[in-house]
Amino acid sequence: MTEAGDSARAYTFGPADRLDVDPRLAEMCREQPVLRVNLPYGGDGDAWLATRHADVKTVLGDPRFSRAAAGEDVPRAVAAALPSTTMLSMDPPEHSRLRRPVAEAFTPRRVQALRPRAQQIVNGLLDTVIAAGPPADLAKALTWPLPITMMSELLGVPTADRDRFTVWVDSLLVLSDPDQATRAREHLDDYLTGLIAFRRTNPSDDLLGALVAASDEKDGPGDEDLVSLASSLLSAGYEATASQLGNFVYTLLTHPDHWRELVADPGLVPGAVEELSRIIPSSASAGFTRVALEDVELSGRTVRAGDAVVVEYAVANRDPEVFTHPEEIDFHRPSNPHLTFGYGVHFCLGAQLARMVLRIVVESLTRRLPDLRLAVPADQVPWRTDRLIRGVAALPVSW
Ligand code: HEM
Repeated sequence: MTEAGDSARAYTFGPADRLDVDPRLAEMCREQPVLRVNLPYGGDGDAWLATRHADVKTVLGDPRFSRAAAGEDVPRAVAAALPSTTMLSMDPPEHSRLRRPVAEAFTPRRVQALRPRAQQIVNGLLDTVIAAGPPADLAKALTWPLPITMMSELLGVPTADRDRFTVWVDSLLVLSDPDQATRAREHLDDYLTGLIAFRRTNPSDDLLGALVAASDEKDGPGDEDLVSLASSLLSAGYEATASQLGNFVYTLLTHPDHWRELVADPGLVPGAVEELSRIIPSSASAGFTRVALEDVELSGRTVRAGDAVVVEYAVANRDPEVFTHPEEIDFHRPSNPHLTFGYGVHFCLGAQLARMVLRIVVESLTRRLPDLRLAVPADQVPWRTDRLIRGVAALPVSW
């Protein structure tokens, strides 16, 4: 058994301008599935990188690994440190106190109730694309406007405020300009404070209305919690969904056999959404750092109490112990326990909503634009490389 003291490998991969696991990273993980890496951000020091499916589940799901202990100075794979007030930076019981009211408000009923509206928004956006005729930029016309409209409706942001709201939300996660991101967060927090005050006197049935109602209960969230919750939902939900929508379409159009398979059999869409979620390495790098609270064994190596650990979702999602022919896209997998929405107490709160939106978009595109294809060679599609999540900057298509 080897412990810390191994020389750490540099963790510098990228830019995230494509949708595959960097071959150097894949090679490194094949040699050593739990390895020491030197991360580019945060404090000095090395971290463990966990890449096997079982180990990633342990790091994300076992209470011996803590998000709260990972302050701003811990080594990080991502440029931005999350604010300590956000639920993803907390451990139970503080985490549960913030998460519970959202989980209760985010009922399957509320998500299902959004389905007709989501379909209507997609129909409207596609009507415009089809009326204008080819070529079109589907990122601009569909994949970015749809999630911000969904998130605005979820929170009950009035139509008149949506343009400026969109500008702030869009700037929240720009890693290359932290000042711009900070200014955007301040504007957004002010705006959400006003909206919450408005909801106190004008109750509503949207998610924010439900959270405001929950805050009147004993031990319910306070006003600051409400702002943090709404802003966490926005930063976690908008960009991830928008990027994944574009990544899905890009992957299908660069694998035309799979596109045609869906056109021929729309019943495959739910399985396709799971498989595309698995195979697309959406996270631009390893995930948010955890810190071990005690010594823990991972695949025969000892992570010491106090050590930082990050997980590589994309490699775990291709673990041959769990997925047969892991590098192939297969819409018929009988089970698909991918980790793209995380695992454990921080499992994605918006997974149901994201899945619903992804299904609607894939199904609508195959039905209404069965001859869809990229309008430029795949290697000329531009990428946004300054984000936490991989995604196209434009998606030129024709049909
Ligand atoms: C395809 C789209 C999405 C992907 C791939 C995704 C992925 C993830 C992942 C991997 C985590 C766990 C991070 C960790 O443990 O370090 C997470 C957490 C979270 N996600 Fe998502 N997400 C998506 C969409 C959404 C949406 C639409 C919302 C909200 C409407 C949302 C809200 C959240 C929240 C609030 C958390 C933190 C939960 C907690 O700390 O308890 N996500 N997401």
